[in-house]
Amino acid sequence: MAQKTSLSGPPAAIGPVAEPGNTPQAATTAPTTTDIELTRLMEAIYLKYSYDFRDYSGASQKRRVLYALTQLACPSISELQSRVVHDPRVFQQVLQYLTIPVSEMFRDPSFFLALRQQVVPHLRTYASIKVWIAGCSTGEEVYSLAILLREEGLLERSLIYATDINPASLDKARQGIFPLSSIRGFTANYQQSGGKRAFADYYTAAYAAAIFDKSLRENIVFADHSLATDSVFSETQLVLCRNVLIYFTKKLQDRAFGLFHESLGHRGFLGLGSKESIDFSSYATRFEPLVRAERIFRKRPGLG
Ligand SMILES: C[S@@+](CC[C@H](N)C(=O)[O-])C[C@H]1O[C@@H](n2cnc3c(N)ncnc32)[C@H](O)[C@@H]1O
Repeated sequence: MAQKTSLSGPPAAIGPVAEPGNTPQAATTAPTTTDIELTRLMEAIYLKYSYDFRDYSGASQKRRVLYALTQLACPSISELQSRVVHDPRVFQQVLQYLTIPVSEMFRDPSFFLALRQQVVPHLRTYASIKVWIAGCSTGEEVYSLAILLREEGLLERSLIYATDINPASLDKARQGIFPLSSIRGFTANYQQSGGKRAFADYYTAAYAAAIFDKSLRENIVFADHSLATDSVFSETQLVLCRNVLIYFTKKLQDRAFGLFHESLGHRGFLGLGSKESIDFSSYATRFEPLVRAERIFRKRPGLG
């Protein structure tokens, strides 16, 4: 079985078993059989496919694996482990349950309004702009940002790296085709986010699909990259990583914040999801809030 490829080169060498503080066994009580099976499943996935889910938060991961069992008609996690290891197609199915490919355009419209009003004026001062959208899923967030940058006259001098670990999601993102049934909600979000035109200007409706204008993705690079195993690939001025870190343990969140800090240039901007914050991470002092309510932070000067 070929191992996955990534934007920043081959996967990291196989490392030690996840530290007890970041796995389901972290509870002070003895681990349950399910916890042990889960740990072994994640270890097997890592050893076989180099996807590292070992430092994802336990409760939510357990829910997703138990749901996968029902969907795949699998009697136990141990049986699922055996099927995953022996059949890459089963792994691809499990990957869909583990990665939660859920998104929407202009999700949390007030976030995009704040981006437009408080970050764009700074971006405007740069000759060229590089943006990293980490955990871009099926692309809704990426097209939202591309539309926003186009309306602000910045898309042509921008390069957007949109990364994720789920190849099926990245394929969908590259296509830029979303169900027509979602468009009503996306349009409302767009209007609330300070959109300047008719949302219908950006897509063509065909049967049950909305096909987004391909000129929006001329400056977008979609690529496989894991926040758990890969390294930084470019200097950027803006990083968006929304509704991804919520699934990570603190240790893995710290790893991701380290990548964002390293990637961001002087006084770069970081946007997180509405339930995420940098405040309790090891990188808390290296960023300052720009719009705290919208989880938009800015790299502090002079701290490397
Ligand atoms: C709930 S979606 C968020 C999508 C989008 N950012 C949004 O807010 O609408 C979470 C995404 O994080 C991705 N993800 C999970 N683990 C990741 C990792 N280690 N590195 C990069 N992306 C990851 C998943 O594949 C999924 O597409």
